[in-house]
Amino acid sequence: MLFQRTFTQLSPLALIILGVQLVASHSWLQYIEVERTGAIGYPRNFFEPDPQADLHHVNLMESNKSLICNQFQRDAVNLPGTPRLKASPGDRVIGWHRENGHTTDPVYSGKAGKTYWYGTSQPSKQTTLGDVRTWTRDGGPKGALVGISKFDDGECAEPNHTKISKDRGVGVYGKNKNCRDSGFVIPTYVKAGTTYSVYWVWDYSEKYGPAVDSGHFEFYSHCVDIDVIPGMGEPKVRTVRRFNGPSRARDLDSEA
Ligand SMILES: *[C@@H]1O[C@H](CO)[C@@H](O)[C@H](O)[C@H]1NC(C)=O
Ligand SMILES: *[C@@H]1O[C@H](CO)[C@@H](O)[C@H](O)[C@H]1NC(C)=O
Repeated sequence: MLFQRTFTQLSPLALIILGVQLVASHSWLQYIEVERTGAIGYPRNFFEPDPQADLHHVNLMESNKSLICNQFQRDAVNLPGTPRLKASPGDRVIGWHRENGHTTDPVYSGKAGKTYWYGTSQPSKQTTLGDVRTWTRDGGPKGALVGISKFDDGECAEPNHTKISKDRGVGVYGKNKNCRDSGFVIPTYVKAGTTYSVYWVWDYSEKYGPAVDSGHFEFYSHCVDIDVIPGMGEPKVRTVRRFNGPSRARDLDSEA
């Protein structure tokens, strides 16, 4: 596997020399899940535990010109233990991401912003953040905005002594709770037998207050592919499953 070799051959120093930034504020997807069936799949080139998760999973974008996928995710490749999701047109797919202190730490809490899902049947390595931000709800197979969520689902937390972590049932000795987003529906124009590529984009520009005032620009992304398989008929209403208790994640789409 090309990518496994890439990971093991490059030392952290080499990667820094290559211009990869290590960042302190960050987040990434852990996996995505078909709401109807509970089937899960992983982002491109993902493995865990990854001592260099910051490097491999994080794509900090400080301008619209930044490429939407980091250098480890430009090729549509998954590793053997972390395959792609298989899902059908019409399926709702939910994302689970790390909160990494953005909800647990009172310094950041309440400023975590929103996450966006952009989907395309025609992915390109040259696609930039600015490109996907022009994609709209009405966009077709070339590129569309398919979902919007809050970063903080009101329940996610990591182990810490903070009040927020304790209030969310984690505290010092608890287990990490990933944030669940409201995801997106695979558009019905997407054909079975094809690959649908989706970009999870986190807008963290409100870190210092409203971005219009601060002028701050800070986005992150994670790139994921889905193998589109024939549908199983009408989706059934299904109770939300969560590793560590029930979820009350709301769908911002329905509030808009
Ligand atoms: C708990 O949060 C503080 C910041 O509020 C951070 O400095 C510390 O590393 C965290 N501790 C753990 C165990 O994550
Ligand atoms: C980035 O691109 C989006 C989409 O075209 C646009 O709305 C936004 O104003 C741009 N931001 C900057 C700083 O150029």
